[in-house]
Amino acid sequence: MPSMASNNYHSQPKPDSFARRQKLEQQRKSLPIASVEKRLLEEVRKNDTLIIVGETGSGKTTQLPQYLLNGGFCRDGGVIGITQPRRVAAVSVAKRVAEECGVPLGQKVGYAIRFDDATSSSTRIKYLTDGLLLRESLLDPSLSKYSVIIVDEAHERTIHTDVLLGLLKSVQKIRSQVANKLMSNDSIKGKNGLLLKAGHGDLLKPCHGRKLPPLKLIIMSASLDARVFSEYFSGAKAVHVQGRQYPVDILYTLQPETDYVDAALITIFQIHLEESPGDILVFLTGQEEIESVERLVHERLRQLPEANQKLLTFPIFSSLPSEKQLKVFMPAPAGFRKVILATNIAETSVTISGIKYVIDPGVVKARTYDADTGIESLDIVKTSKAQALQRSGRAGREGPGKCYRLYPESEFEKFENSTTPEIKRCDLSNVILQLKALGIDDIAGFDFIEKPNRIAIVRSLESLFLLGALTEESKLADPVGHQMARLPLEPMYSKALILANQFNCLEEMLIIVAMLSVESIFYAPRDKLEESRTALKCFSSPEGDHLTLLNVYRASTEFLEKNKLTNSKEKAEKNLRKWCKENFVNSRSLRHAQDIHRQIKKSIEQMGFRITSCGDDMLLFRRCLAASFFLNAALKQPDGLYRILSSGLMVQIHPSSILFRSKPECIIFDKLVRTNNSYIRNLCRIDYLWLPELAPQCYGFQE
Ligand code: CDP
Ligand code: MG
Repeated sequence: MPSMASNNYHSQPKPDSFARRQKLEQQRKSLPIASVEKRLLEEVRKNDTLIIVGETGSGKTTQLPQYLLNGGFCRDGGVIGITQPRRVAAVSVAKRVAEECGVPLGQKVGYAIRFDDATSSSTRIKYLTDGLLLRESLLDPSLSKYSVIIVDEAHERTIHTDVLLGLLKSVQKIRSQVANKLMSNDSIKGKNGLLLKAGHGDLLKPCHGRKLPPLKLIIMSASLDARVFSEYFSGAKAVHVQGRQYPVDILYTLQPETDYVDAALITIFQIHLEESPGDILVFLTGQEEIESVERLVHERLRQLPEANQKLLTFPIFSSLPSEKQLKVFMPAPAGFRKVILATNIAETSVTISGIKYVIDPGVVKARTYDADTGIESLDIVKTSKAQALQRSGRAGREGPGKCYRLYPESEFEKFENSTTPEIKRCDLSNVILQLKALGIDDIAGFDFIEKPNRIAIVRSLESLFLLGALTEESKLADPVGHQMARLPLEPMYSKALILANQFNCLEEMLIIVAMLSVESIFYAPRDKLEESRTALKCFSSPEGDHLTLLNVYRASTEFLEKNKLTNSKEKAEKNLRKWCKENFVNSRSLRHAQDIHRQIKKSIEQMGFRITSCGDDMLLFRRCLAASFFLNAALKQPDGLYRILSSGLMVQIHPSSILFRSKPECIIFDKLVRTNNSYIRNLCRIDYLWLPELAPQCYGFQE
């Protein structure tokens, strides 16, 4: 398999890039949005809030910020912020725009995602995730450095987008009051209860060397229905950008497929061997699935005659290291066909050129929340009709294409019209914590674009109370609530770190939180199951997956450090990749975990915590895990299933767990995932009697 040249995107533009610049310029001019540049600028000037709807690939995300910059919207040093629901999109688009502008990434054009900030004081166009902008508002409630905020991919309706829309509505109102000098002496109250005290953000004083202007807000969406946004923003104007779409032939299967992964594989090779040139985009549900399909494609490819082997695979999913993400955008070498294996990130967030064939199994991994049990899980669910249409549309961007739906047409008719907004189907604890930290106490009264389920609010408040983040009056508890809000992690992980500080096992917990933040550290190819099991034995701990992950992390760090003594950094890292391969450890995931570890360690140290280790005292460490993850405690039942104590839900241990066979009496787990069964993943054995002792607020005897 020829390897593609690595793309160092932090480097300066090359001197010989003149031809490339010209080509980019040409591409820019031919985008559908280019013909309405003037009109868009006029509309933004006239309207403080504007909604822009346009077909995916029409140039909204890459072009509009450049038009605004050139149109003078950053005068006085203001920044244009563009939010994306996904990390990959923020990074890849920023890189593209930097290239189009002919500037090094991180200067005039930059990005910021959790654990990775590529911006500087000279950044004017800043791509960032919606979650990160929410975090920024904690430090700067009036978002004073931004002159324009573009909420991109608003149709995705992630929970962060929805909360952000509410906050921005408030911030915009406050800032226009300030601009009109309507401010009273003490404070300004925005809608939604966001209170800016005089002096808080120094509203009237020049900020970042300039006077705070009103905030321009632009909502961008790929779906045609702009009504919901327009209504929410008091009848804001919506502009439609005409896209370009070629016809796409839609093919359905005759029967439902029992194994969509296998069906996808067969379809990939059918296209590769029988259809005319053109790249293939396959929608899959997550990293694990993508990596397993990637291996299977390579395996089958090896069995083909050499002339038919000109097929290259490119994965793209959110946690893929950024330099790898960018490879997906490079054209395949002449004579080769590209197969892009993507999560639903390729649905609307990123546009990859060259695609002629789309394979759509009709499923997606989605967060699901059961308000009755208070349990959130990651489920493989059917897509909506809107999603299926977006997916097939990817095949018709540059010419006529084909979309292979791996389900019968009758199935499509049963899909929901559109996807339910995430805020209606996820645990709200994290955003509640952030809203509380912003001083917004009345969560049910918050002006959401769509109100979350009341029971879900109550449930989330309850679990935050049990974790010690809120007082009985539902106020942020001091100091735990404030500390938890400061950490960019799910509440349970933040709590684990805070407790680990008291238990003197912060070093171990930092590793665990980092390792749990990535998908699948181990992989087990179908043809090497036994070998991978034997490899795992060197690290496995009878106490469970957490301690096993700790062993892997430590072993890899030790290996790398030793190697660095006698080798160059590059050589040592190469050796580490080899070590990973031999041990069936996913080196991508491990590297991501190391990155996350570095970043959380920094946050923790900034909070004044000292990082100490519990040495060999794993009992203490397991007790700390029990004290933090007590809401996820489960007890073995006579039939071998487990009952989650806080909710009564019956679940099974996932076969990938170290404890799958030994089945201890009582465990805590990290995540619940549902396919056909309810599985718990990443478990640690605990003693049942620890629960009333370590979490009496949840398991104590009622008086
Ligand atoms: O946001 P929207 O879907 O309207 O389009 P866009 O993301 O601004 O993409 C406009 C064009 O830029 C597309 O035709 C892409 O092929 C191209 N593009 C690219 O080549 N590489 C990227 N990293 C991003 C966009
Ligand atoms: Mg876009």
